[in-house]
Amino acid sequence: MKMCCGALAVVLLLLSVDAATIDRVEYDYFKYHPMDEITKWMTQIEKDYKDIARIEDYGHTYENRTISLLKIGLETGQQKKAIWMDCGIHAREWIAPAFCQFFVREILQAYKTDPKMNEMMKNMDFYVTPVLNVDGYMFSWQNNETRLWRKNRTPGPRNCTCFGTDLNRNFDANWGTVGVSYDCCSNTYCGTSPASEPEAQAVTKFVGSRKDDFLCFLTIHSYGQLLLVPYGHPNFTADNYDELMEVGLAAADAIRQVHGKNYTVGTSPAVLYSNSGSSRDWARMQGIPLTYTFELRDKGMYGFVLPEDQIQPACEEAYEGAMHIITYAYNKTFNGAVATAAAAVWSLILAVGVTSATLM
Ligand SMILES: *[C@@H]1O[C@H](CO)[C@@H](O)[C@H](O)[C@H]1NC(C)=O
Ligand SMILES: *[C@@H]1O[C@H](CO)[C@@H](O)[C@H](O)[C@H]1NC(C)=O
Ligand SMILES: *[C@@H]1O[C@H](CO)[C@@H](O)[C@H](O)[C@H]1NC(C)=O
Ligand SMILES: *[C@@H]1O[C@H](CO)[C@@H](O)[C@H](O)[C@H]1NC(C)=O
Ligand SMILES: *[C@@H]1O[C@H](CO)[C@@H](O)[C@H](O)[C@H]1NC(C)=O
Ligand SMILES: [Zn+2]
Repeated sequence: MKMCCGALAVVLLLLSVDAATIDRVEYDYFKYHPMDEITKWMTQIEKDYKDIARIEDYGHTYENRTISLLKIGLETGQQKKAIWMDCGIHAREWIAPAFCQFFVREILQAYKTDPKMNEMMKNMDFYVTPVLNVDGYMFSWQNNETRLWRKNRTPGPRNCTCFGTDLNRNFDANWGTVGVSYDCCSNTYCGTSPASEPEAQAVTKFVGSRKDDFLCFLTIHSYGQLLLVPYGHPNFTADNYDELMEVGLAAADAIRQVHGKNYTVGTSPAVLYSNSGSSRDWARMQGIPLTYTFELRDKGMYGFVLPEDQIQPACEEAYEGAMHIITYAYNKTFNGAVATAAAAVWSLILAVGVTSATLM
């Protein structure tokens, strides 16, 4: 009896350790998650990566839900550069929030094993918003009839009985000029004035208050397999258009190498349609040099209702594309020589560390 129970205690102890690990590991990144699960996931990430990940609330939606991001980076006590990524500005594009969560998981894993990522975390913070349009996203989860909702949930002005403003037509970037509607029932209704919507205000305020820190602004949508560069207005060209295209085309190459998917790179008017008031254009006009819209899978076969068995490949390829742009931005800003020496030391430390850390 004694021996049995001693052994049992050991087994139980092992099981409880395992259960703790499993809790963390078992979040299914390759399913779509409703908002409450994503919120819980953020809390869990913050808990599991205390030294490097923190939730920041930076605004409220029309229905007064909190808009939150994960800030990921090492505390150095110094002013750091930054990378912006937001997902779920359009409610029905469910692959986008799935990607932001996958992206967070990947950079947190890479941080432990990849000296380059470790170095990036020292010099930059990643600000990742898994769901920007929280009200719209929740509405799209209500039932089959609301699944394809795109806008936020602000009631229309005056006599208009429809709901919702297209948040990606609401930013203060040639607002209301092209590719928008003033009809509040339209899916491209641009709102009553630039940044009239609380969700657009939240991004404008947060990013605008530290715009010199941001090297990169990536906003994630679906679908179409596109990398869009500024501007959406056909009569304006970004002053670093050549650089944006060169980096974008290389990112598309990186994407193609993962699962063979072709992404088209260009301005919105060149490869999609003209528009105004997008967050990407706003960010570029604020002086952030590398601003891109990702339109993830697919090209229309399933459209916004991308099957869950495509979440993994869609995220894997988009991750390589995003990391290409981010790495370019990083290398351009930080001194390569110093970084390489530091990386060599880190490789040694990590090579020793990894063997003992893979026990899970
Ligand atoms: C919105 O929510 C915040 C907390 O999340 C609360 O402090 C505030 O009073 C709320 N505002 C309204 C108008 O309900
Ligand atoms: C909703 O859509 C799903 C999948 O398309 C379908 O299986 C289900 O029957 C639909 N439910 C209703 C109430 O229409
Ligand atoms: C609202 O409706 C009233 C009565 O139908 C009409 O007189 C008014 O012009 C409308 N206002 C707007 C802004 O459409
Ligand atoms: C772009 O400029 C041309 C020439 O000035 C003008 O005709 C056209 O309306 C402009 N396009 C937009 C969308 O403003
Ligand atoms: C991608 O584009 C290349 C060159 O245009 C073409 O040869 C290839 O078949 C395309 N791949 C897919 C999966 O469409
Ligand atoms: Zn979109």
